[in-house]
Amino acid sequence: MRQMKLGLFLAPAGHHMAAWRHPDAYPDGFSVKTYARFAQIAEHGLFDMLFVADVFSLTPNGKRSDNFRLEPLTLLSALAMVTERIGLVATATTSFNEPYHVARKFASLDHISGGRAGWNIVTSSSPREALNFGYDAHFEHAERYRRADEFTQVVRGLWDCLDDDAVKIDQQSGVFFDSGKLRLLNHSGTNFKVAGPLSLPRCPQGNPVLVQAGSSEDGKSLAAKYAEVIFTIQRDLAAAQIFYQDIKARVASFGRNPDHALVLPGVMPIVGKTRQEAQDRYYDLQSLIHREAGLATLGRHLGMDLSGVDIEGPLPDIDLTKLTQSRAIGIVETSRREKMSVRETWEKLVVSKGHRQLIGAATDVADSFQDWFENGGADGFNIMPPMLPNGLQDFVDLVVPELQKRGLFRKAYTGPMLRDHLGLPRPALLSH
Ligand SMILES: Cc1cc2nc3c(=O)[nH]c(=O)nc-3n(C[C@H](O)[C@H](O)[C@H](O)COP(=O)(O)O)c2cc1C
Repeated sequence: MRQMKLGLFLAPAGHHMAAWRHPDAYPDGFSVKTYARFAQIAEHGLFDMLFVADVFSLTPNGKRSDNFRLEPLTLLSALAMVTERIGLVATATTSFNEPYHVARKFASLDHISGGRAGWNIVTSSSPREALNFGYDAHFEHAERYRRADEFTQVVRGLWDCLDDDAVKIDQQSGVFFDSGKLRLLNHSGTNFKVAGPLSLPRCPQGNPVLVQAGSSEDGKSLAAKYAEVIFTIQRDLAAAQIFYQDIKARVASFGRNPDHALVLPGVMPIVGKTRQEAQDRYYDLQSLIHREAGLATLGRHLGMDLSGVDIEGPLPDIDLTKLTQSRAIGIVETSRREKMSVRETWEKLVVSKGHRQLIGAATDVADSFQDWFENGGADGFNIMPPMLPNGLQDFVDLVVPELQKRGLFRKAYTGPMLRDHLGLPRPALLSH
């Protein structure tokens, strides 16, 4: 029976914009112990994977917490040592990295974790990132995706320079590795010239799992060509079904099996033992939003400075054709359609980074998950607890047993690797 996949989107305090101001946030301070605690709760809840986002810059607004972060691969290497089964997915941008570095780091994480690594391929949307890498501005949108495509090809090629059985470590014969099973990549393209090989045996999973989250046309094409897990922002089932069908058809058009590209919309479930308790938790968090943080976060999502606007009035005039980010377009359209003020826009659409909020008892959350899962909206969900660790613990204690009772979620891990959890095949060696 098909069962849903669950990712935990890690954030130090939680995904509600004001979570960090709650007295229960940061139980161990800004420490790796905080993350270790979350990882272990998620593994206890049999989650498929942990997911760590990344941005190479800090928004200089002291009222916001969300850009403070540990470097994802360093963090996940540490978490690999305090977990045994859960998958470990880190973000690495193709815009401000070199393929060799990325291939090597993710292959290392796959070896360190015994086959649990995944790479979230992003092109970077924050304009500030470019300023840290010798540029005055980010590349134009189509250029980012052309680079991302070639970058991904090179990374996959580097992972496949050695056959699975190339490394012998044969002390008797003195053969460390069989050089006949080594093929150089010798890639020479528009953006990269890379000979290879990596100085590592082939990964336990063959290749780390490829993840992608772009929603523009170019983003969806990149996802369809390579991604095995696709994160997406979908706020209602009808739109989610359209996205799901579109992605699966695009995957098939690349000659790939659509079942091997799993669509996981993000969702912020605010769960209580009763609906009232869930509502109370939600209002508690909403009351902690600082006005400046709300305005700045909305501005960042829209890619514009909103300081000085009337927060009780509608959004200022924004030319939708100038917005390249699908998330930004969605926020403006929803805000206009539902006649929201600027304040309501951040309160309703931005507190959860634009993702769907689901407030209720465990059965309400399970009902909605089941509806989306069984009606072509999702293969699973990327869970964004409003608060950590409490929101995650509630989800594991209340929602996971309800999903298991309905036969919708595993009762035990069936294999050691992330590909086992996700039902994804081990990739055959690329020939080059
Ligand atoms: C769940 C989720 C997580 C994301 N994480 C990151 C991230 O960590 N870093 C980043 O630069 N972009 C991140 N993004 C943004 C996208 O990967 C993508 O770069 C952005 O949507 C722009 O692409 P698009 O124009 O194709 O939509 C994330 C998007 C989603 C839906």
